[in-house]
Amino acid sequence: MAAFLGESPISSLTKTEFVCQTCITSDVEESFSVDQVVTGRPELDGLLDVSYDWDRLPVPGSLREFESAWMNRRNPLDFSGVWRFRRLLPFAPDEQIVTIGEGQTILQQSEALAKYTGIKPGGLFLQYEGLNPSGSFKDNGMAAASTHARMVGAKVAACASTGNTSASLAIFASTTEQMRVVVFVGSGTIAYGKLSQALDFGSVTVQIQGDFDDALIRVREVCAAEGIYLCNSVNPFRLEGQKSIMYRVLEGLNWEVPDWIIVPGGNLGNSSAFGKAFLELKHLGLIDRVPRMAVINATGANTLYQLYEQQGLRWNNGQPDREAIDRFYAQMDADNHRASTLASAIQINRPVNLIKCLRALDVCDGVVRQVDDQAILDAKAMVGAGGFGCEPASAASVAGAKLLRAEGVIAPSDRVVCILTGHGLKDPSATVAYHSGEGGKLDESLTSHGVTQTQHANRPIVVENDLGKILDVVRNIST
Ligand code: F0G
Repeated sequence: MAAFLGESPISSLTKTEFVCQTCITSDVEESFSVDQVVTGRPELDGLLDVSYDWDRLPVPGSLREFESAWMNRRNPLDFSGVWRFRRLLPFAPDEQIVTIGEGQTILQQSEALAKYTGIKPGGLFLQYEGLNPSGSFKDNGMAAASTHARMVGAKVAACASTGNTSASLAIFASTTEQMRVVVFVGSGTIAYGKLSQALDFGSVTVQIQGDFDDALIRVREVCAAEGIYLCNSVNPFRLEGQKSIMYRVLEGLNWEVPDWIIVPGGNLGNSSAFGKAFLELKHLGLIDRVPRMAVINATGANTLYQLYEQQGLRWNNGQPDREAIDRFYAQMDADNHRASTLASAIQINRPVNLIKCLRALDVCDGVVRQVDDQAILDAKAMVGAGGFGCEPASAASVAGAKLLRAEGVIAPSDRVVCILTGHGLKDPSATVAYHSGEGGKLDESLTSHGVTQTQHANRPIVVENDLGKILDVVRNIST
């Protein structure tokens, strides 16, 4: 596949002069040009935004204008579910853009899950990001990060990952042959589907002794020391690509704004990107209202929930209470508290985009909830029974919708979109464990995480190799 279009360096005649990188709080006033790689500046951790001078850029008059791209699918930029919206993330000249066909995802209405969550028929939608080339929403962001890496001439890129970021970076690097890739993963904390992708796509895979939080600290040190391009969501260009998930949700709803967006929260890149997308769309007059957002933590990795809902931490006009955050982490370290959930993708205790997410929650009048692994796996089984399926972390969004509906925060008549972040095949172990076990015979991987029931399990039927007995089973099914 021709992943690159043209070979020219950043041209002075492109739009890049109307783009810069700025700090979202008033801590650092300095701004950075689009072709700078800003790593190794701890005071800017998780605080950089890609900012546009919208007054000087050609913005669409209405979202409907993007429909013209549907007629032009032979152009890889219009085929891409990220880049067909490039006028809303205009940091790269067209000839520098990298795409591997990401973002061909769909918004699907689900009556079964509307019933499960207590929402009126027709009101519950699933945004299937597992349909991306590497099987998760990360490809949206990696298309943008790979483009920026290309703009700055990066030869080596790295990330730490609970699995999906590494799979995504690896597929972009191998498909485009643009750069070498090193991925850092924790030990025993990555689902096999994801690890297999990093290995298969040829990235150098470093399994460090520790978890994701440890791996992220190390990869940032390594990138700063070696001048390696960092592809975690602390990279603001990643989030530019992830804004497109919201554009596609609006597209799927015929450009109408839903009442709720519900998204699992790990490193909080997605939620941050969604908030920025809506902030910009509102600023540009392309939407008349902003949806509410719910970020769902796993109970075993609930930093955002604790800080936002229990301690009342807020964006506070760009002046969040940093001391409260520092105190929280200091206590976590003192207790040697480690994140622990079967939803391994969101097993994260130190989300790098915490402050950006506070801004998103402010923009979207947000709420944060935690759901336990039992609720996550039950919701996951319901998603799977209804179609494409998803991995455990993704199902936190559906479990969160059910909880918020039970609390009365979501009304029965609300229009709700749950983001299914990763494909069901990413973590077959969790799926098979849920569907196979029963009562006292549940797999230890489940019980050790507090999962004691499998009420939506679809158990395999064991039959002797005997035609009569097999027919008995089959006839039993068809009656
Ligand atoms: N869902 C899935 C399937 C994920 O892989 C992740 C994050 C999240 C949700 C959370 O998204 O970080 O934007 O809040 N996975 C990262 C990784 C951390 O390394 O693959 P977030």
